[in-house]
Parts: sequence; C-alpha cells; structure tokens
Amino acid sequence: MTTEAQQPTQTEQSSPQQKNIRLSESYPPNSTNNSQYLAEVHEVIKNIDLSTLDFNEKITIREINPLGKDIDQLKVLYKEWFPLNYDDTFWNKVSKQQVEGYVAELDLTSESLDKYIVGAVVFYEKEANRQDLGFCLEYFFNKLQTIYIQTIGVINELRQYKIGTKLLDKVKDIAQRRKNIKYISLHMVEYNQSGETFYLKNGFYKVRTIFNLFKLEERFYNFFYFCFYVNGGSNPHQNFWMKVLQKIRELFRKLAAFIKSLY
Ligand SMILES: CC(C)(COP(=O)(O)OP(=O)(O)OC[C@H]1O[C@@H](n2cnc3c(N)ncnc32)[C@H](O)[C@@H]1OP(=O)(O)O)[C@@H](O)C(=O)NCCC(=O)NCCS
Repeated sequence: MTTEAQQPTQTEQSSPQQKNIRLSESYPPNSTNNSQYLAEVHEVIKNIDLSTLDFNEKITIREINPLGKDIDQLKVLYKEWFPLNYDDTFWNKVSKQQVEGYVAELDLTSESLDKYIVGAVVFYEKEANRQDLGFCLEYFFNKLQTIYIQTIGVINELRQYKIGTKLLDKVKDIAQRRKNIKYISLHMVEYNQSGETFYLKNGFYKVRTIFNLFKLEERFYNFFYFCFYVNGGSNPHQNFWMKVLQKIRELFRKLAAFIKSLY
C-alpha cells in the first residue's frame, strides 16, 4: 500500500516529522525518494488517538520471528527508513538468524485490528577491524569483540515515544550478558541530526569520522562511528592518546627539573 505523506496543514506544521520532505533523516537531505509511506500500519494508525494509547500495554519488544510475516513487514518499513538497498542477501541472513533482531510490535487486536511492527533493530557480533577503529595500538594487541548495530528504525508517528531507546536497551542487555563483548558499535551518516542526538542521549560516544564511507543515492558521505562501552571496554583511541599525553607531560616535568637543577 502506498500512502502519500500529507502536506502539512496549519496545525501539523510544528510536528518534527513534517518539517522536511524526508520521512527519515537517514535519507540524504535533498532526497526526493522518501516522501511516501509504504507500510500498511500508517493507514491504521491515522485512526488511532495516540494520546490515549497505553504504550506499555500495547507495544511489546520481541525477537524477530523468521517464519511469520515479520520479514514482509520489515522489507517495506526498511524502504521508508533507510536509503541503502537491503536486498535478499540481508533478508536471508535475518530469516536464517545469522544476524539477530528485535521488533517493537503494536498490538491492536483488542480493537479488532492486527499486530503491526512499529520499530526494529538488527545487529550481529563481529571482531573490530582496522576500518572501523582506524589506527590504534589496542587493536593490534587485543581482539576487540563488538555487537554491531546494522539498522534501527521506528515509524514516524511513534518517534520520540522512547521506542528506539527500548530497542537499544535490549541490545545493551544482550551485550552486557556476553562478557566477551566490549562495546556496541554502529556507523551513522553525518547529516542525520536526530540520529546523532538519539545515540548521544543513549550514552554512545562519537569515536571517529570515516570519510566517504558509503554511497547513498549517487554520492559518498562521511559516517560517524559510534560506540557504547560494556563489560569494562573503553575507547582505545582515548586510551592511546591519553598515554601519549601523559608521556609528553612526564618529559616536560623531567626537562623542567633538569633545567632547575642547573641553577
Ligand atoms: C533514530 C530513531 C530510531 C529514534 O527513535 P525514537 O523512538 O524516536 O527515539 P526515542 O524516543 O527513544 O528518543 C530518545 C532520545 O533521542 C533524541 N531524539 C530522538 N529523536 C529525535 C528528534 N527527531 N529530534 C531530536 N532529538 C531526538 C531525544 O533526545 C530523545 O529523548 P527525549 O525525547 O527525552 O528528548 C528514529 O528517529 C528513526 O527511526 N529515524 C529514522 C531511521 C534512522 O535514522 N535510524 C538511525 C540511523 S541508522
């Protein structure tokens, strides 16, 4: 189903989602490919009074079911949320559970409607590599295991209701329980300002910028590498540069002491 995202009316103009033609800030700022709703849930939700919706009761965070209709719903939502093309290779990994994932599901069955996916996160474990971390000594001496968040998204109507935070909390819980994991990581395109606020608010650190990392709609963009540390993990860059700074300070102190001893 394709629903034209309505032109903002006088009363809707203050809504954060309506200020821009883009439905998702993941899309390039001048994109014209992201102004239409595609998922069925939007048709349903426009008839629901969100101010009376009990989010704790109606929205459940659960694992992606590889056998049910989750994947069909997600395929459509991913087109709304992300400018990268998630093809069959990606969806095969999701259905074969080679990657992990959780969805936020809105249950409207008591209103004689259905259950709808309104948010999702997909992630997997990997060993940190040089491309992610850049040059750092820590990487050469230790194997740093990370949970890498590949995608996270929430439908427009339910953004800023903490659904994204709940999905992230799920990933944080899992990371904390796996003691080999030292941090959660992800790449985010640098123009995605709401995404940046979202990750910083949720305790992530912006570790570095990787220039021209991915091509989105015919242009390469810089991406930020964000990390959330768990199980004693810490920013290897910070450690390295802190050590260098400490060494320089020590040298200056010794030099000052030596000059002083001459007089
Ligand atoms: C990023 C995204 C997943 C956030 O989901 P969400 O459910 O709206 O986030 P939350 O409600 O949990 O927000 C938590 C905090 O993030 C910040 N935040 C989230 N959305 C924001 C926005 N549009 N503008 C400013 N701050 C925002 C706020 O600080 C918020 O806390 P507050 O409401 O107490 O101020 C959602 O906006 C989205 O799906 N965007 C499109 C896809 C995308 O960009 N994904 C991330 C990059 S891959």
